[in-house]
Amino acid sequence: MSVPLVFAHRGASAELPEHTLAAYLRALEAGADGLECDVRMTRDGHLVCVHDRRLDRTSNGRGPVSRRTLAELAELDFGSWHAATRGSDLDGAARPGTGTVGVLTLNQLLDHIDGVRQPVRLLVETKHPTRHGGAVERSLRELLARRGLHRARPDARVRVSVMSFSPLAVRRMRALAPAVPTVQLLDLLPSGLTPPGLGRLPVAAPVVGPSVELLRARPGLAPALRAAGKRVYVWTVNEPDDIDLAVSLGVDGLITDRPAEVRERLG
Ligand code: G3P
Ligand code: CA
Repeated sequence: MSVPLVFAHRGASAELPEHTLAAYLRALEAGADGLECDVRMTRDGHLVCVHDRRLDRTSNGRGPVSRRTLAELAELDFGSWHAATRGSDLDGAARPGTGTVGVLTLNQLLDHIDGVRQPVRLLVETKHPTRHGGAVERSLRELLARRGLHRARPDARVRVSVMSFSPLAVRRMRALAPAVPTVQLLDLLPSGLTPPGLGRLPVAAPVVGPSVELLRARPGLAPALRAAGKRVYVWTVNEPDDIDLAVSLGVDGLITDRPAEVRERLG
């Protein structure tokens, strides 16, 4: 049985504040094959690495990310909400010596990934992209094209895939950048579809990303997807039993908050 790829969900986010450079670099040190990053669009069209619609949980700001400009977000602190950050200076913090961390843009994350030696697979998840009428996908395509990451290069050191729960967003991305692998995320099966009917699964993406809860409830799902020619990346796999289940079902990738522990268990 082959060893699945390990992707760090929002970085090593069980240990350090999610979506900070420190959390991403820690994940790579822990031997993650790749990183998962949620992106949202600012009012002035920049892609920033933030999971929630609102700023409240992971920064000292309030309100929707989409109503702020990048310059406004740069004034906020995305580190000190987290216990690991208080009183310390995170590696790679945007403001050395202050213990505070600025917002991370996708462009900055890619710059830092360029600076590490190891191969890195980056899974970029577009959050609620349909609200922006295709602007998120166009911006992403442009950013990838500037770096030559929109081409199919299986031997490239940095490889980017784009994920979404929205089938429309996945289709848009495939139309704009056909060589960029896409991942269709699933938390529920489309209504009425059971594993024997998976051949009809309306999924254009070459990779399908079910939740671990879905995988547990439908053990036939991962094998059926693989038999239909799809690769399977499962999220968010943190517990030993779930790691073992995913491996026994032959999944291709595990997305986890705990890359060091998963790497150790996989051996
Ligand atoms: O990797 C997919 C997973 O991240 C989707 O859920 O809410 O953590 O973005 P969420
Ligand atoms: Ca995500």
